[in-house]
Amino acid sequence: MTEVKRVFVVDGQPFFPLGGQSCNSSGYNDKESATAFKVIKLLHGNTLEIPVYWDHVEPLEGTFDFTAVDELITTARRHGVKLILLWFATWKNGNMDYAPAWVKTDPQRFKRVISQTGSDIWNLSSHCKATLRADKKAFAALCKHLKDKDGTDRTVIAIQVQNEPGIIGSDRDYGPEAQAIYDAHAPAKLVTAMRKAGEGKIFDIWQKSGANNSGTWPELFGWEAGEILTAWSIACYIDDVAASGKAVYDVPMFINVWMMEQPWWPIPGESYPSGGAVSKVLDIYKWFTPHIDIIAPDNYADDVEGYKANSVAYSRADNPYFTPETAGDQNMFRGIADYNLIGNFFFGIEYIVTPDGAVRPEYQTLVDNFHCVSSAIPLLLKYQGTGKIHSVVQEYKLTTQRLDLDGYMGIVDFGEKTARWGGKDWRHNAGWMWNEQPSMNRGRGLVVQASKNEFYLVGVNYRLFLRRKPTLDKMGAPLLVSDWATKIFGYIVSVDEGHFDRKGEFIADRRRNGDEIFRRGLWVESDIGVLRVITCD
Ligand code: DGJ
Repeated sequence: MTEVKRVFVVDGQPFFPLGGQSCNSSGYNDKESATAFKVIKLLHGNTLEIPVYWDHVEPLEGTFDFTAVDELITTARRHGVKLILLWFATWKNGNMDYAPAWVKTDPQRFKRVISQTGSDIWNLSSHCKATLRADKKAFAALCKHLKDKDGTDRTVIAIQVQNEPGIIGSDRDYGPEAQAIYDAHAPAKLVTAMRKAGEGKIFDIWQKSGANNSGTWPELFGWEAGEILTAWSIACYIDDVAASGKAVYDVPMFINVWMMEQPWWPIPGESYPSGGAVSKVLDIYKWFTPHIDIIAPDNYADDVEGYKANSVAYSRADNPYFTPETAGDQNMFRGIADYNLIGNFFFGIEYIVTPDGAVRPEYQTLVDNFHCVSSAIPLLLKYQGTGKIHSVVQEYKLTTQRLDLDGYMGIVDFGEKTARWGGKDWRHNAGWMWNEQPSMNRGRGLVVQASKNEFYLVGVNYRLFLRRKPTLDKMGAPLLVSDWATKIFGYIVSVDEGHFDRKGEFIADRRRNGDEIFRRGLWVESDIGVLRVITCD
């Protein structure tokens, strides 16, 4: 049993945010955000992630305009959707595109990062106190405004502080102030934190570099000092910004990550922003961001191994696993079942539809994924961390997947079938006809075994067969059986398609029996809701 820390709360109850992130320019006004709100409903989501821009809310220094924020909140309430606001400010994807013009055009006051070659780059230095003060002031004003406008209804459930922070174009700032920090002793509390941890990637780099008790950054971390100093500096900067907001309004805050585990070579400042909370420096972020609730990877990996590695890195006892940007693929099921994912978002939600609002055919599988998860949210909130949720994912060419269940052996059978018995029901594919259509629609979903004889299934394009675990003879060999019920179907009391009501009670909508289950297994599709199966001994 793992304790799942539910950072997101609605009406005092744990909440599983599910939905999409708008395109970058959709937060400017009501007109621009309209499609994103519509698509959240199409996607069966409950939350929209959408940016708030520093250059927009503070066009002149000290003059704030929260009209766009107010519009977002009003529209979200009208749609019955929650919001996660993304504070695009000092950093957006490793540059400063969203800083106000009065910041961008005053490099004397708001220092830019100086690269190794001595030229300044399009990135604000985390060492510049004037920029920090300005960002903090604007963020605190935003939080104060949210408190006044939304403190009771709490349509905004969380804020992402900055967006994929770090430096693109250099591993660190080589300007004079930054250089002086690099050449001075690193803070003693960093050494204390490493010593206390006694393990981890930062600890290992420190050990490899001689494990000095004190020293300059390069003395402690060798050639990786540039990135590590930058991570420490940006982590402290963002934490300070978050603290200024939390001081006026207590709402969950997180930092998202442009990951180093990309298809490209891992060169900080080149293939990912140096100083962002990549897995290598995640410990630094966890040690120095006490006002941040989650370090959240933008996990676009769609290969199994890549997804698993990213999930392992960011689902830690001290870091709930939350993915603010993903490709919305079948890995979501894996994240939920195997890594206690507490919320998931697809990036670029408007891309799902054509300009006239229809779901593009190539996005239907993604919409189905979200539909399945949204149907199962009460189950996730109840059973994540208990070992009762199993992910079902059909990898390339996989025809079946075994599940080890309490009292049962499960076989998940994937895909469309060519035999007549492989149909489903008259609403779905060709129950009484030969069906030879190849399918790119791979099987995926979740199987939840609430108790030994109570199962809940959601998903697409798979069917579950349950066989009671065999009785063993005195040598331990399984006793063979010949009856079909034991061998393949289990003893099924009832099979119902249904949904969960507001109180989390299962409501049966349609009973399945006879041809709809005999030899066809316990099949699911996204539009059937949740399948509840009751068995008996
Ligand atoms: C990651 C960023 O965080 C988003 O704002 C967006 O730019 C996407 N990348 C684009 O793929």
